[in-house]
Amino acid sequence: MPDTRGSIHGQWSSRFVFILAAVGSAVGLGNIWKFPYITGENGGGAFVLVYLVCIALIGVPIMMAEILIGRRGRQSPINTMRVLVADEQANPAWRWLGWLGVVTGFLILSYYSVIAGWALAYVFRAGAGLFTGADADSVSTLFGALLGSPESMLAWHTIFMVMTMVVVARGVRGGLEKAVTLLMPALFVLLVLLVFYAMYQGAFARGVEFLFNADFSKVFQHCESLESGGPASCRFTGEPLLIALGHAFFTLSLGMGAIMVYGSYMPGNASIARATLIIVAADTVAALLAGLAIFPIVFANGLEPAAGPGLIFQTLPIAFGSMPGGRLFGTLFFVLLTFAAWTSAISLIEPAVAWLVENRGIARVPAAIAVGVLAWVLGIGSVLSFNLWSGESFQLFGKTWFDLMDYLTANILLPLGGLFIALFAGWVMSRAASRGELRMGDRRGYRTWRFLVRYVSPWLVVIVFLNAIGLI
Ligand code: PHE
Ligand code: NA
Repeated sequence: MPDTRGSIHGQWSSRFVFILAAVGSAVGLGNIWKFPYITGENGGGAFVLVYLVCIALIGVPIMMAEILIGRRGRQSPINTMRVLVADEQANPAWRWLGWLGVVTGFLILSYYSVIAGWALAYVFRAGAGLFTGADADSVSTLFGALLGSPESMLAWHTIFMVMTMVVVARGVRGGLEKAVTLLMPALFVLLVLLVFYAMYQGAFARGVEFLFNADFSKVFQHCESLESGGPASCRFTGEPLLIALGHAFFTLSLGMGAIMVYGSYMPGNASIARATLIIVAADTVAALLAGLAIFPIVFANGLEPAAGPGLIFQTLPIAFGSMPGGRLFGTLFFVLLTFAAWTSAISLIEPAVAWLVENRGIARVPAAIAVGVLAWVLGIGSVLSFNLWSGESFQLFGKTWFDLMDYLTANILLPLGGLFIALFAGWVMSRAASRGELRMGDRRGYRTWRFLVRYVSPWLVVIVFLNAIGLI
């Protein structure tokens, strides 16, 4: 009975809008900020390959699972789980899955907004012409000045969080559809432009080799540069596998209910498999373009690939500073990056807000403000992680607050949520239910999906977890 339930939050006007919104959620800082820097820290090609395998064998089937669960339940993830548990007469403990997602999204938003604040700050630096003629040193000084000022980081974090609350308060459809249609393609065009720049001005061959030549001796090697601009120190660990797995979830917005809640607004007759392939392709292309733009600049300027979270802010300004029209393109680029982060941030709090509206009878506006303010407060810890709290005495488990939030959410909570989503869709939901919702008949496509979601994805996640905690 897939079409009998509607969502009280409204429905996307078409299949196309669902895809736009999901691409808006997926493509964000994860692609342009995070993918390049973790690739740099984890040795390049082999890491990229592991990441792509995770996307194909875990990301695709779990995204289909998450959309199908959402569309069947037609409510916030918490209530969707409640409805489906009743439908399938499953163990009520499954309802925790919805809660896990809401908490994870909220934790991610707290630091996501801080990094989005950097992008916002860079709009004005680019606009003021501060990159003109920049070299590696001046760009690194400029970035250091931002990190060194908790006040300005806090101000940008605040502005970004307010922007997010405003959109969420107005509901999923207000104006966003049109903006995504226009601005997402523009971001892709600018990325392609940067790749062209890298082709002519950067060490392109070395960049390509770094990204795509899988040197498997580096699969267990994790490097970090301790001081900004300094050389990286490397250690041997299973962590790169966990980071690649976690990033597959993070970049596709999987494992916390963002895609589930968007799926709940999806029209009943749209193909979930086709939508998934489009979303995954767009996300992967965006990440690879970002890598192709950044690493040639890194190598051409003798920069450190393992420079960490500041990588794009210390490389792309060099490109904008020396290309014709760089001031305009640089400004535009950071505007579009901020926009991409914005559409992702919205999806991070939508599950929590949808739940407050459904269950607590709170109106959208106060619900959005409440969740946003809480995430903002938690984000202050991430702001301080780059300055006042960066010292060892403030670290927990050898990590700053920001590192801890990032590690906990991307590497643990999202894969855990994804694991349970796969188990629920593959083992708890009946064949009839998942097949009916996927509209795939009982052909090879459906059987492959079911096989992956029952046997392959869950086991891969478990194996990587066990490896990360040193058990295998
Ligand atoms: N996928 C987003 C990105 O790559 C981040 C995100 C994660 C958004 C989880 C929603 C849920 O930037
Ligand atoms: Na992404």
